[in-house]
Amino acid sequence: IPVEDFDLVIFGGTGDLARRKILPGLFRRYLSGQMPDTSRIIGAARSDLDDAGYRDMVREAIAEFGGEEAKNTQELSAFIAQLHYVTVDAKGDGGWSELHEMIRFEAVNAFYFSVAPSLFGDLAERLHTYKIADKDSRVVVEKPFGRDLDTARELNATLAQHFDEKQIYRIDHYLGKETVQNLMAVRFGNILFEPLWNNHYVDHIEITVAETVGVGGRGAYYDKSGAMRDMVQNHLMQLLCLIAMEAPSVFDADAVRDEKLKVIRALQPVEPHHIVRGQYDRAGDEPSYREDAGNERSFTESFIAMRTEIANWRWAGVPFYLRTGKKLKARASEIVVVFKDLGHSIFPGDQERHRNILSIQLQPNEGMQLRVTIKEPGPGGMRLVDVPLDMTFAEALEGDNDTVDAYERLIMDVIRGNQTLFMRGDEVEAAWEWTDPIIQGWEARGDVPKLYDQGSAGPDDALLLMHREGRRWSQIK
Ligand code: BG6
Repeated sequence: IPVEDFDLVIFGGTGDLARRKILPGLFRRYLSGQMPDTSRIIGAARSDLDDAGYRDMVREAIAEFGGEEAKNTQELSAFIAQLHYVTVDAKGDGGWSELHEMIRFEAVNAFYFSVAPSLFGDLAERLHTYKIADKDSRVVVEKPFGRDLDTARELNATLAQHFDEKQIYRIDHYLGKETVQNLMAVRFGNILFEPLWNNHYVDHIEITVAETVGVGGRGAYYDKSGAMRDMVQNHLMQLLCLIAMEAPSVFDADAVRDEKLKVIRALQPVEPHHIVRGQYDRAGDEPSYREDAGNERSFTESFIAMRTEIANWRWAGVPFYLRTGKKLKARASEIVVVFKDLGHSIFPGDQERHRNILSIQLQPNEGMQLRVTIKEPGPGGMRLVDVPLDMTFAEALEGDNDTVDAYERLIMDVIRGNQTLFMRGDEVEAAWEWTDPIIQGWEARGDVPKLYDQGSAGPDDALLLMHREGRRWSQIK
C-alpha cells in the first residue's frame, strides 16, 4: 500500500548510514510500489554537490549496498530521478533558503538527522528559523542518543525546544526487525503463551546478540562507547522490554511505550559479579580489539554478558541473561525463554530433563521454535524425546519480509505517522538511568575486560555467569 506523498530530507545524505541503509532501503520501498512517484528525497550535507552529482553518488551506493535489486537498472533510474540535493551549512546560513524553496508543504515532510548528535540543535533551530519545519513535520534521529543520562536529557531538551514529542522519531532499528514485531503478535495474539509468561512458569530468559564483525573502521566511535552503550542500552533493552512488558490495552504508540517504560523502570541494578566484560584478542593476522580501536590501553568492552532481574509481580526472581559481542563464533541473535521443569514426572525410568523452550531467532534466519516433549515414535515403550515445533511461517505465508530491512520499514512508519516502533524520550532516559550506574561502577573499580578468542562465545567467565546458577547459555550457532 503506497504511503502518502512525501518530501524526505536526509541531513547527512552523503554519509555512511544514508549510503548503506537509508537510500538502498528507500529504493526497495520504491520497487515495492510503496513510495509514490511524486515523492522526493532531498540529500542535504556540507559537500558541494548538485542534483546530478548526488544522483551519481546514490547510484553507486545502491550498486554497492543494494543487493540484487540494484540490478534493476531501469527502475533505479526512475528512483534516482526523485532525488535532489542541497548544500547546507548546519552551523551557518548557507543553503537554508534554498531548502525552504524546495519543500512542498502540502506533502508529508520528514527530516532525517543522520548526523552527529551535536548538530541536532543547530539543525532543529534552522528548520524553524527558515520556516522549513512546521507542527506537522517529523524529525527522525539516530542513536547514539546520548552517552549517559545527562547528555540524553540535553538532547531531548534541545529537540523539545522545536518539536513536540509526537513529531520525534527516535530510531532503534532493532524494533524494525520482522521477528521483533512477530514477538508481539505471538505474545498478544495467542491465548497459549500469556498464562505461562511469568515467574510461576518461566525459569529464565536469555537474550543474545552475537556478531562476527569487529570494530575495524568504527574504532574511534566504538572505543568511546563499548558494547554497553552501543548495544545493551538500546537494542538489547528494547528486546527485553518487548519480552517482559504487560499487554498494552491497545496496539498504539503510547500504550506500547508506556508498558515498555514500566519494564525499564523496574529493572534491578546489576551487581558487579553479574557482569562480564570482554575484549577480543589478536588471532594470527586478525587484529585485536585494541589494534582495531587504535588504542593500546583501551579498557572498552567489545563483549558484555550480564544478569539482571525485573522487580515486579510478573517477573520477580526470574533471571534475565543478556549478552552481546563482536568477533564471536557466528552472527546470531536469539531470545530464549526457558520454562521451568515439570514438578513431577509420571514416566518411570525417564531420567532426562525435559523443558519447554521457546527460541526466537532474529537473525540471520528469522524464526521461532517451541521445544516440546513427545513420545519417541516406535515400539520402544514410553520413551520421551524433545522435538522443536517450528513456528516459522514466513515461507508458508509467502511474505516478502526477507527483503524488508528494518530501516525501510521504520522510514515508512515515519511517513505514516506511526510512532509505535520508535523510542519515546522518557524511555531513552530511563534506559540511561539504569545503564549509568553500571558503567560508573566498573569505571570506579577500574575493571579490566577479559580477553577472549575471536570466533569463540566470549570469555569463559560469561559461561560461569550461568553455570554458577546451574544454567547454561544456548549455543551460538
Ligand atoms: C548498531 C551498532 O546499532 O547495530 C553496531 O552500532 C552493530 O555496532 C549493529 O554492529 C548491529 O545491527 P544488526 O542489525 O546488524 O544486528
